[in-house]
Amino acid sequence: MSDWGKEELELLRNKILGMARDAELDDDPLRWFEELYDFSDGDSSFIPWSDGKPHEFLIDWASNKPSNGRALVVGSGLGEDAVFLSDLGWDVTAFDISETAIKWSSKIHQKSDVQWRVENLLNLPEEWEGYWDLVVEIHILQALPEGIRESAAPNLATLLSKGGRLVCIGRFDRSGKEIEGPPWPLNRQFIDSIGRGLKQISFEVKRRALDEVDVQRYISVWEKK
Ligand SMILES: C[S@@+](CC[C@H](N)C(=O)[O-])C[C@H]1O[C@@H](n2cnc3c(N)ncnc32)[C@H](O)[C@@H]1O
Repeated sequence: MSDWGKEELELLRNKILGMARDAELDDDPLRWFEELYDFSDGDSSFIPWSDGKPHEFLIDWASNKPSNGRALVVGSGLGEDAVFLSDLGWDVTAFDISETAIKWSSKIHQKSDVQWRVENLLNLPEEWEGYWDLVVEIHILQALPEGIRESAAPNLATLLSKGGRLVCIGRFDRSGKEIEGPPWPLNRQFIDSIGRGLKQISFEVKRRALDEVDVQRYISVWEKK
């Protein structure tokens, strides 16, 4: 994100909510991601989830661990997390539903070895099943309307090879209040369901230094036995 003022950020938030609402009304609820990347016209200040850096929870989790395997980054946005993992030594493929996001990522990270792909989490290539040693999902499920989220989430676990790990990071909801998303913070019951059939090896709720007081986040990690 840029150093935009509060009012500009509010305008952007309202624009995004409007795009998401219109897309849902047109029965094409994932359309707004591509629309936003396209509208941004190469200016990452318009992409609220991108601050040009990998997610700090991912940095904490992945640093100082063996990094020699095949990693898949789901809904990779502008690619910061994928490049971070690749620099650690992972053999990384990153995919996003937005063609513009993928073109943009491959342009800004030209020197990286990441393989960039346009794919939809709802309909992934068959050969990816059981193929990945690490699957990373950051802020995707919480950005999807409930019905789509419930169809998409079970696909994550199927991607893991034996011994592979799934890392999910997002906003945590413990209030149970109705929220006008996206994003829709996820509750513990839903988060636990993501790893059905896997062994959960850690679950933490924490905050980022710059988070507003009412924001809580989770990181959950599972392993395929
Ligand atoms: C909130 S952004 C998070 C991006 C990135 N993970 C990050 O944390 O910066 C959600 C991303 O998921 C992508 N996305 C949404 N639905 C998707 C789907 N069904 N398959 C793949 N990517 C999807 C969007 O295009 C967008 O880039």
